[in-house]
Amino acid sequence: MLSGRTTLTKFAVEQLRGHPGQHDLVTLLSKVASAIKTIAAMVSKGALDGNLGSLGTENALGEIQKKLDVVSNEVMVSNCEWSGQLCGMASEEMVSPYAIPQQYPKGEYLLVFDPLDGSSNIDINMSVGTIFSILHNGSNETPAESNFLQAGTQQLAAGYALYGPATMLVLTLGQGTHCFTLDRDSGNFVLTHRNLKIPAQTSEFAINTSNARFWEPPVARYVKECKEGASGPLGRDFNMRWIASMVAEVHRILMRGGIFMYPRGGKDAAQPDRLRLLYEANPMAMLIEQAGGMATTGRQRILDIPPEQLHQRVPVILGSRDEVKRVIRYHTEHDTGIDRPFVSPLFQERSLFTQDC
Ligand code: F6P
Ligand code: MN
Repeated sequence: MLSGRTTLTKFAVEQLRGHPGQHDLVTLLSKVASAIKTIAAMVSKGALDGNLGSLGTENALGEIQKKLDVVSNEVMVSNCEWSGQLCGMASEEMVSPYAIPQQYPKGEYLLVFDPLDGSSNIDINMSVGTIFSILHNGSNETPAESNFLQAGTQQLAAGYALYGPATMLVLTLGQGTHCFTLDRDSGNFVLTHRNLKIPAQTSEFAINTSNARFWEPPVARYVKECKEGASGPLGRDFNMRWIASMVAEVHRILMRGGIFMYPRGGKDAAQPDRLRLLYEANPMAMLIEQAGGMATTGRQRILDIPPEQLHQRVPVILGSRDEVKRVIRYHTEHDTGIDRPFVSPLFQERSLFTQDC
């Protein structure tokens, strides 16, 4: 029964009415959605098609690639390269931007994506996802890497697919965040959650606490207070979640609120930040803001960061407004020193009373 249901294409046509790129953007979104359906079908086969496990190769960031990382990348590229809306693509699994091959028509748009986010979950049949963002190139010339380095505020569309018990596609075109569920019988993405709204308050936090010894003091302070619960300054008990898939964490927050943090400070000292700006942080930040939440590094709004590199990484703190604001305040208090007890100048390092005699 399709009558009365809003499909992704119908929704996009209606939201983009009057936009100069309406036709191209609707077509492009339908190509992205086809790729997502193919990836969903592959992921749902689990071990049956021999797609699980690692390839032994490394991606642009030196991480070991899973077979499904690479295959999902190929599916996105092959679905989106031929229909004439794009002049280039970039992804976590490709070191350099992908130019649309000569034989295909070119359009004015750029597609950036993480083909399979949370891929450490693949082999254990846990949730993974695909994240994407659409930018305007301004011409259909083959883009240089610098054409992709646009701040998140420039995104025309952002979204993700979650391959969970149901496959869901969550999308923003700059007018709210909306959620579609894949109806496997009809093959359509059907609008099931219009205008998602993240509650301003939450008692649920998500962070990989095994990195605690590397966190900066404002994050350590906030997490300590969450753990102190009702007996600490936050005055209420918190719950903690960690799915190790950003798509799944963001989806939970869009559905019921929460705060997700992948802050600066990981086990790899050479890579203090984990998440990638262009195809992870920016699209998620746009979806979160469009649903009334906030996304920050702790010191800067994610969407305002001027990108410097295609695979640049940033700290990410996002979710329910009041809690994200609190973490920003803790960063400010730390950076200005007001979170530290006053120490009289007489007793500071190299003062009258602390000098070696
Ligand atoms: O893409 C990076 C990612 O897989 C995210 O989806 C997820 O939030 C994070 O890494 C998991 O990190 P960790 O291995 O520290 O749990
Ligand atoms: Mn990822």
